[in-house]
Amino acid sequence: MQLSPFTVVAERDEDKPIIEDLHEAAFGPGQYARTAFRLREGVPHDPELSLVALAGNELIGSVRLTPIFIGGRPALLLGPLAVWPQHAGRGAGKLLVRTSLELARRAGHGVVILVGDEPYYGPFGFVRLRPGSVQLPGPVDPYRLLAAELQPGALVGLSGMVTKAFPAA
Ligand SMILES: CC(C)(COP(=O)(O)OP(=O)(O)OC[C@H]1O[C@@H](n2cnc3c(N)ncnc32)[C@H](O)[C@@H]1OP(=O)(O)O)[C@@H](O)C(=O)NCCC(=O)NCCS
Repeated sequence: MQLSPFTVVAERDEDKPIIEDLHEAAFGPGQYARTAFRLREGVPHDPELSLVALAGNELIGSVRLTPIFIGGRPALLLGPLAVWPQHAGRGAGKLLVRTSLELARRAGHGVVILVGDEPYYGPFGFVRLRPGSVQLPGPVDPYRLLAAELQPGALVGLSGMVTKAFPAA
């Protein structure tokens, strides 16, 4: 079967319901208990940096970046990243991550963190944070707490509590 090519564009308002379905399919109801979810709850994701992969009119994947603070310094939280299983392995996940990081870098952001698999995110520049240097408002596997530096030196001295960018309404 010939698969149609896909493109990556900024998330549009009409994408929200299908992205909710995608998150439900990828993460299930457990997504609401995750520490990363707590940081995103009530905080709009960055509309310039949150992207969808489209094959024709079909949404095949999504990535969101949300503002946070780390020890009082502005940063970004990457996630959720999800691709529909029937479109897995086509490179959509990688292109979504690479493009969102590049847009974030160009917009002047310094640090992106996430909770995820190092083997997947390492090639994009994500490294494990020094244990204990950064605390989240809930349990996180320290091996899965990763950070990428978008500007030289941005990770130097990064420490403290990760907090929401602004309180829930
Ligand atoms: C993880 C996910 C986003 C990858 O999307 P994708 O479009 O299939 O990924 P890509 O096609 O860009 O990359 C595929 C490559 O990543 C690898 N990969 C996929 N998930 C991986 C993981 N968890 N750890 C390590 N490598 C992984 C594949 O083996 C493949 O390797 P290859 O290029 O050497 O063949 C997708 O599988 C997904 O939505 N999973 C469920 C939700 C999830 O786990 N999200 C990430 C949260 S941390």
